[in-house]
Amino acid sequence: MSDATSALSDAPETELGVNEPETPAVPHPTDEAAVSAAVEAALAAFAAAGDLAELKVARLAHTSDKSPLALANRQIGQLDKTEKAAAGKIVGAARGRVNKALAARTAVLEEEEAARILVEETVDVTAAPRRRRIGARHPLSILQDRVSDVFVGMGWEIAEGPEVESEWFNFDALNFKPDHPAREMQDTFFVEPAEAHLVLRTHTSPVQVRSLLERDLPVYVLCPGRTFRTDELDATHTPVFHQFEGLAVDKGLTMADLRGTLEHFARQMFGAEAQIRLRPNFFPFTEPSAELDIWHPGAKGGPSWIEWGGCGMINPNVLRAAGIDPEEYSGFAFGMGVERTLMFRNDVDDMRDMIEGDVRFSQHFGMEI
Ligand code: DAH
Repeated sequence: MSDATSALSDAPETELGVNEPETPAVPHPTDEAAVSAAVEAALAAFAAAGDLAELKVARLAHTSDKSPLALANRQIGQLDKTEKAAAGKIVGAARGRVNKALAARTAVLEEEEAARILVEETVDVTAAPRRRRIGARHPLSILQDRVSDVFVGMGWEIAEGPEVESEWFNFDALNFKPDHPAREMQDTFFVEPAEAHLVLRTHTSPVQVRSLLERDLPVYVLCPGRTFRTDELDATHTPVFHQFEGLAVDKGLTMADLRGTLEHFARQMFGAEAQIRLRPNFFPFTEPSAELDIWHPGAKGGPSWIEWGGCGMINPNVLRAAGIDPEEYSGFAFGMGVERTLMFRNDVDDMRDMIEGDVRFSQHFGMEI
């Protein structure tokens, strides 16, 4: 012991007590005033604790093994017999007071905390629920998916192409000659700089050639997508609209296959009673070409044939543009507008309703998400 003491006193003064927590004075176990001061300090600390976390700090300081009263208690063992009894009484009573005060303060703070949690976490079961409207898919998207489903059901694939398209895919590869009036007829948005020869695609037909270049034969694809023309917005025109394009290239395909496919498609879309009609027409990328009409028994002005889209047998020049030998392969194609289809399928009079984004319009078509 004396060795240890001397070792300590030999140590340089600066290192002594550095960074050591301040230890409160330990009262001598028979010093009633000092013990009582320790008790008062403990009671003051408990009273000052504002919540259970603060009380824990005070508890450790005043009741743990290293607290002044616990250390005083430990010293009792080393006292004379005569002093022991008195010291035991003093320190015992002191610790009793401290523990009692601690228990009382703990009870108060626990009750306060419980009350606070009750208030903070109260659920007002009478409050009106905040309504969140469920988003709905747009009727055009739903219709586009329905169309895709019909063709996927026949084993066709879905193909996509860019909306900013090269003039070559949009026109040249589809057999539009450079001076072909159809080029202007299509009211094209050209994309600057002019040398880049880019357009906003005026139809989904360029995906035909892209699909033929990308895929192995035979090809059966449906290409839904957004298309653009410089039309003014009115009840039956919108500069941004949607089309779907069908393309089948295989050995031995004939116009009978085209007709059968379109008839099946029409019945899936409009019911078993649906009828179609093909009228001769002209498109640069099909030969022969036809206008496709659908019989609409429920049309507002009475039953009638309604123009639905264009179709035809793929022009050999288009097959050649895609590196396919027209002697070996043949194919058919068709293209329709999604907006137009929605108009007569669901009796929508004004195309503007489809693009204004009013949910009251979409709600009529169900809430498919
Ligand atoms: N691309 C044509 C248009 O936008 C529609 C069309 C006609 C597509 C005939 C075809 C087709 O695939 O064979 O007016």
